[in-house]
Amino acid sequence: MIYKINFTRSGRILEYCSHEHANLSILDLAFDNDVQIKAGCRSGYCSACQVEITKGDVKYFYDPPPVPADGGAALLCSCYPVSDLEING
Ligand code: FES
Repeated sequence: MIYKINFTRSGRILEYCSHEHANLSILDLAFDNDVQIKAGCRSGYCSACQVEITKGDVKYFYDPPPVPADGGAALLCSCYPVSDLEING
């Protein structure tokens, strides 16, 4: 499956291929494509990469993540898309 991820603040739309990008987080995809997202630990503990998901759904590599995200938000270092997404990032 190919999902479109719209980073609304950055004005970028990226494609995430569930086969090609398996084990790649949304944060990794953003970094690989020069989309600027705040980050710290990159392993789900510091919440620096937390952003609001305004449309769509994500899944975490580890469920539950070490530190749960606030409602309507996700830790981009620890998740991948399971639908098209709109992210306030
Ligand atoms: S970068 Fe620390 S939780 Fe994502």
